Amino acid sequence: MGQNSSQAANMTSPVRIIVVGAGCRGEIYSNFGAIHPERLKVVGVADPRKFARTKLQQQHHIVDENIFEDWHTMVEREKFADAVAICTPDRLHKEPAVAFAKKGYHVLLEKPMATTAEDCTAIVEACTQSCVMLSVGHVLRYDPVTHKIKELIDAGAIGDVMHIQHLEPVGFYHFAHSFVRGNWRNEAESSFALLAKSCHDIDLIHHWAGARRCVKVTSFGSVSHFRKKDKPAGAGNRCLDCSIEADCPYSASKIYMDRVKQGNTGWPVSVICPNSFPDIESVTEALKTGPYGRCVYECDNDVCSNQVVNMEFEGGLTAAFSMVAFTEEICKRKTTIYGSKGELSCDGHEVRVFDFLTQRSTKHTPHSGTPRRFMSMSGHGGADYYLMDAFVSAVANNDPSLIRSGPEETLLSHLLVFEAERSRLDGRVVYCGDVGHSSTTKNTLP
Ligand SMILES: NC(=O)c1ccc[n+]([C@@H]2O[C@H](COP(=O)([O-])OP(=O)(O)OC[C@H]3O[C@@H](n4cnc5c(N)ncnc54)[C@H](O)[C@@H]3O)[C@@H](O)[C@H]2O)c1
Repeated sequence: MGQNSSQAANMTSPVRIIVVGAGCRGEIYSNFGAIHPERLKVVGVADPRKFARTKLQQQHHIVDENIFEDWHTMVEREKFADAVAICTPDRLHKEPAVAFAKKGYHVLLEKPMATTAEDCTAIVEACTQSCVMLSVGHVLRYDPVTHKIKELIDAGAIGDVMHIQHLEPVGFYHFAHSFVRGNWRNEAESSFALLAKSCHDIDLIHHWAGARRCVKVTSFGSVSHFRKKDKPAGAGNRCLDCSIEADCPYSASKIYMDRVKQGNTGWPVSVICPNSFPDIESVTEALKTGPYGRCVYECDNDVCSNQVVNMEFEGGLTAAFSMVAFTEEICKRKTTIYGSKGELSCDGHEVRVFDFLTQRSTKHTPHSGTPRRFMSMSGHGGADYYLMDAFVSAVANNDPSLIRSGPEETLLSHLLVFEAERSRLDGRVVYCGDVGHSSTTKNTLP
């Protein structure tokens, strides 16, 4: 499925989707409708930001009566689409997800599902009871590389899996942008870093572990470096008037101004001007007055900059995960999986399997193919495209089996994230509960 699911689509009219939250993610998922107008039509949008909703309206020729400032008004209307994409900030997922599910919309919900285990469970229950499909934005499940790793494990290429080692290098300026100055810097406003950033990775580990459930978890981590006490002598409160800016790798002038001067107005520059298209003037204004011009040692950030999670699964399989801010690579995950018959390693592009018996290596380079042509959906190695491809086909064919990031497994991996964070906060081993194992959480339709 996934890469081939478009071939399975058999509806004559396109799937109709409405978008709640027309920011970065809402716009990206909507792009599928521009690429495949015969398969998807964006028919409504809700966003309090006029700039964002008008942009989406113009891109998809949405009629005026289907434009909303707030999702509450939208959900009160008689159902006018097949599905909804919920791409609001982390703390605004549960309420719309439950409300639209109850109204009979199939739900594409950005990750994290919600910011508490109870809310994640409530979303799954609402979708199950309303008999609607749920796909969570765990895009990496749709990455051809991830899929190849799973295929190789399932085919026995490395025998029984004994240990999984997985690294998420967030990237030094990405971390400064999103987790020190930006939307995910403060847990009370968004969520903790392991949930906001690494629910993808815990989900992948959980996926590769297969049927074996995690039984014990420990975690350590903290905010390091991006604190007032680490502020270098002579540094200003804003990068535009900082005397030592030239020597600071986290300088907002370097991260945003240098890019816009080179004509690069995509991410992360696009994020810092929420009410206009970015240019030198609007970026200068944003750095003078907005959150992204602040010194990284003077922000209200409290989310971990580095965190480790150790897991023990049924049967003795162990896994070790690291999330690190201070890296050259930006989210180019590195994975090594050790098995009884071989070792599998992946640098994010190529999968290499070393066979202990033959002492030979085999290399696999999964091609993401189609999405490379579609730059507007090339994020996450083309996985953004594949997720939409699968979701649209699932809705068109009334076939939830096309969704790889469905309710049951996604809920379990989210619960594991909450348990890991509980371990970090309490400083103890957490023995994983049985929550979410119920068969009622399956992505099944009547
Ligand atoms: N799958 C991934 O890999 C991935 C990547 C980035 C972000 N995300 C997640 O996607 C979600 C959105 O992130 P983003 O980067 O698009 O953020 P964003 O800030 O660009 O977009 C969020 C949008 O929601 C709008 N909004 C706020 N309140 C609203 C309301 N009541 N009704 C309707 N719209 C409302 C905001 O105005 C904004 O336009 C977050 O939960 C984030 O964690 C997922």
